[in-house]
Amino acid sequence: MLSREDFIKISLEINLFFQRIMKEHMFFIETGFPYSNPSYPEKANILKMSFEEILIETVQLANGAVSESVLKSNELVTPYTLDAEELTSSATKASINFDITIAELNLMSDPDFVYTQWLEDAVYNVNMRSINLVEEVIAFKELILEEMLECKIATALYPSLIAHILREAKLYRDMLKSLQQKQVLEKSTCEVLNFWNRIMGEHAGFIEGLLDPVEKEFKKTAEEFSIVFEQLERKCRKNKQREIVGKSYRATKELMDFKRDGTIGLIDCDIKSIIVPLLGDHVLREANHYLRLLKLMCR
Ligand SMILES: [Fe+2]
Ligand SMILES: [Fe+2]
Repeated sequence: MLSREDFIKISLEINLFFQRIMKEHMFFIETGFPYSNPSYPEKANILKMSFEEILIETVQLANGAVSESVLKSNELVTPYTLDAEELTSSATKASINFDITIAELNLMSDPDFVYTQWLEDAVYNVNMRSINLVEEVIAFKELILEEMLECKIATALYPSLIAHILREAKLYRDMLKSLQQKQVLEKSTCEVLNFWNRIMGEHAGFIEGLLDPVEKEFKKTAEEFSIVFEQLERKCRKNKQREIVGKSYRATKELMDFKRDGTIGLIDCDIKSIIVPLLGDHVLREANHYLRLLKLMCR
C-alpha cells in the first residue's frame, strides 16, 4: 500500500511523462494520415488537445511535489523539446501548446513539500480522467491498426509503429489502474527489461526506415542498434538479470546519444529524412525514461 506522499509523487511523475507521450502519439497520427478520411486526423487532434488540457493541470499540481531525479532525467522535456515543437508545428501546420513545455522547463522539486489530502484527491481525479482518456486512445489506435492491416487506409506511418504506441498506451493505463488501488504495477525485472528493450530496438528500426537512403552511415548505425536490442530481449532470464541490466544500460546510453545527435541534426536540418524533429525528441525522452529505470535497477 503506497503512502500518500508516494501515491502523489509517483502518479504525478508517471502522468507528466506519459500524458506528453500520449499527446504526441496523437500528433503523429494527426499528421501521418495525409490521404485518409479526415475523421482520423480530426479525432487525433481532439484527443491531443484533451491530453494537453490534462497535462496543464498535472504540471500545476506537480510543482514542488515531484522528485529532483525525475526533473533532471530529461524524460519530461529535453533542452531540445521546445525547438523541436516549434519547427514541427510550423512545418506540419498542426497545433502544439508550447506554454506547457515552458511551464515544464520551470518545474521545481521542493524537499519540504507538504503532501495534503486535498492534493491526494486532486491527483486521484487526474488519474481517473487519464484512465478514461487513455482507454479512448487505445481503442482509436486499435481501430487504426486493424484498418492498416486490412489495407483499408493509406498512411505515412508503419503498422508496427501503431502497434508500438499501442503497447506504450496499455502500459500507462495498467500503471494508472494499479496506482488507483494505491499500488505500483507489479512486473518482474525481465518483463520491464523486455518491454523497454523491445521499444528501444523498434525505435532504432523506425529511425532506420524513415531516414533517406542517402544517409547510409546513420542507417547502418540504427540497424546495428536494432540488432543489439533484439538480442538483449531474447536473452533475459531470471539468473541473467544483472548482466542484462548492465548491458541494457550501456546500449541505451549509446542509443540515447545517437538519438540526441539525431534530434539536433533534425532541428538544424542537417539530416535527410521523413522524421519530424518532435519524433526525434520523443524517442530521446523515452530512452531517458528507460535509463532512469535502469539506474534504479542497478542500485
Ligand atoms: Fe512513444
Ligand atoms: Fe516509443
